[in-house]
Amino acid sequence: MDYLNSLTTTLWNPQTKFTILVSLIRILGFLKLLELLYRVWWTIRRNLRSTAALTARYGKGSWAVVTGGSDGIGLAMAKVLARREFNIVIVSRNPAKMADAANEIKAVNPKIEVRTVEFDFTKTQNSHSVAEYQSGIIDKIASLDISLLINNAGYLVPGDFDRIPLEEHKHMIDVGIMPATMITKLLTDKMLARGKRTGTMFVSSVQAQAPIAGTATYGASKVYMDFLAKALAHEHRAQMDVMSYQCGLVATKFIGIDPKRANRGSTLYQKLFCITPEQAAERALADLPHEFLSHGHFKHDVYALFIRTMALTWFLAPSFNKAASQKANNALAKLQKNK
Ligand SMILES: NC(=O)c1ccc[n+]([C@@H]2O[C@H](COP(=O)([O-])OP(=O)(O)OC[C@H]3O[C@@H](n4cnc5c(N)ncnc54)[C@H](OP(=O)(O)O)[C@@H]3O)[C@@H](O)[C@H]2O)c1
Repeated sequence: MDYLNSLTTTLWNPQTKFTILVSLIRILGFLKLLELLYRVWWTIRRNLRSTAALTARYGKGSWAVVTGGSDGIGLAMAKVLARREFNIVIVSRNPAKMADAANEIKAVNPKIEVRTVEFDFTKTQNSHSVAEYQSGIIDKIASLDISLLINNAGYLVPGDFDRIPLEEHKHMIDVGIMPATMITKLLTDKMLARGKRTGTMFVSSVQAQAPIAGTATYGASKVYMDFLAKALAHEHRAQMDVMSYQCGLVATKFIGIDPKRANRGSTLYQKLFCITPEQAAERALADLPHEFLSHGHFKHDVYALFIRTMALTWFLAPSFNKAASQKANNALAKLQKNK
């Protein structure tokens, strides 16, 4: 009893309370430091991976289907895969642009085959009916040994929700959600029955990390892609690698930055976070066999942390979102003026 009394008195002593508090802070700080070091080590390790292993894993000479493969990140992914001995199918809407893209891909590796399938995801006759996807895409590639599916096509109109015409909201869903769901479903049975490992990538965005003003519908479509990917990664773990690629800033026409200006752009923001489509493609594809979620390039690990911190920290979020909304509305005004 005396012992307990003396222990209680010692613990309630202000000096002891202060020492305990300092020790707890030190332990927490140490654990946080360990976590940070682990993250740095993991990022370095990830960024040293190569895409060379893809050929053996999924099968030399098998086919990769890339939606939106006529430009930007999709085209860069198609080129990386061509270099790794995969034949390529591009699904996109502009035949002339696809023909140019096919030539570019063939130039990387003349030994592979490239096929193009014309399909505009915003112009389905019957609101994304199964029959349309089946006859418009799947039947045209039915005889191919498909080992990889890259759900990459995307469409963004920036601006506050109420300022964007409803038709454009619909287009963001038409391109950002429906094709990935339909094509993945229509190819999955065949890919799972292949008898060799396959891979499916869903190109999401760091926008899936936190809601940001000025990109509501687009951001929501990227959350959908992210969730779908992660759920399928669990369901198909035994036969298929499924990854959500939460991509950051990539210099494509999508965000209106010339690829030559990536990495050394005109603003500090661009310099710090913007990469080329080739860098994005190489890093994301290297991660496909290993991760169910990746930001690809290390710059985008930092970018995702930046977005999360700015958008979810209560005292930063209001001014961050005000600036984001202003930037998006300016971009929308410019788009509407150029129409
Ligand atoms: N660039 C970035 O900073 C960034 C950041 C985060 C996430 N992402 C995501 O990355 C993906 C690729 O973006 P990107 O930067 O490479 O864009 P991009 O250069 O504009 O390429 C988009 C591709 O999608 C195709 N596409 C667009 N609308 C289509 C439709 N209605 N039907 C069929 N195909 C259509 C385009 O075809 P056309 O050439 O005919 O237009 C093009 O091949 C998107 O899902 C985007 O959301 C990009």
